[in-house]
Amino acid sequence: MNGILKRKEFLNKISVLDLQKMSDLPIFFDEKKMDLEFRGDFQFIKKSERSLEEMRPYLSPYGKCPEGTKNPNAAKGPDPVYRVWRRAHLKQDDKKIKAVGLRYDLTLIPPGKIGDEFVKTAGHYHLPYPEAYEVLLGQAYFLIQSESAVFLVEAGPGEKFIIPPGFGHNTINVFNEPLLMANWISEKAEYDYEPYKNLHGASYYFLKNNDLIDIIKNPNYDSFPEIKKIRTREYSEFGIFKNLPLYSLVNTLDKLKFLNHPEEFKGEWRNW
Ligand SMILES: [Fe+2]
Repeated sequence: MNGILKRKEFLNKISVLDLQKMSDLPIFFDEKKMDLEFRGDFQFIKKSERSLEEMRPYLSPYGKCPEGTKNPNAAKGPDPVYRVWRRAHLKQDDKKIKAVGLRYDLTLIPPGKIGDEFVKTAGHYHLPYPEAYEVLLGQAYFLIQSESAVFLVEAGPGEKFIIPPGFGHNTINVFNEPLLMANWISEKAEYDYEPYKNLHGASYYFLKNNDLIDIIKNPNYDSFPEIKKIRTREYSEFGIFKNLPLYSLVNTLDKLKFLNHPEEFKGEWRNW
């Protein structure tokens, strides 16, 4: 009996992943619960969950649905679809962060699909503010779009991606593992979900077709700029590097000034 208990205890322990080194914060990922544990003074943190019901307007009605329906209102999937923790910073850093008007958030997207679509975030614009992302766990497909361009960026652990000013974005988890991302954003940034909601998602859907990923145009859009794939890179001009957790910039927040002053954004996006 004792042996069984010890084994259970052991199995529970290994399902919890230590993300301290990766994130520079005392956070742990509980794979069984598909949730995060915060083992520090995260006094200002606010958790929210996006339910399957809330996600329905953003889903594709296309593709083969194993449940025998093409109706997104009936598609099954993880519920909640994804979780967000806003102001996931330590109390000791609160003054510094507030002084520069920024916010640090985390987003967890489980693996799986809703109907035929890979699990994704709803998608939004927060014009004109950019947003700096980092993958802490898993692999992300960042899909960013404007009226004239659509870009897909694949990023793995430690890799960074800046959503440039003027683009809407959503993230798709097409891989068979949980995806955890961190981001810095201006406190002034507002979230506009309406364009994604009214058009039933982003300009392209990502559907599971056995081992293939079918990328399907969303017919609710008037124009379909071709998807271009771009690589992640380091942003030395902002002190953002692959092996440096985004949170550690809490000690050099002046480098993130561009998040509140997009006119000072001098990234490779500038000429688009
Ligand atoms: Fe965003």
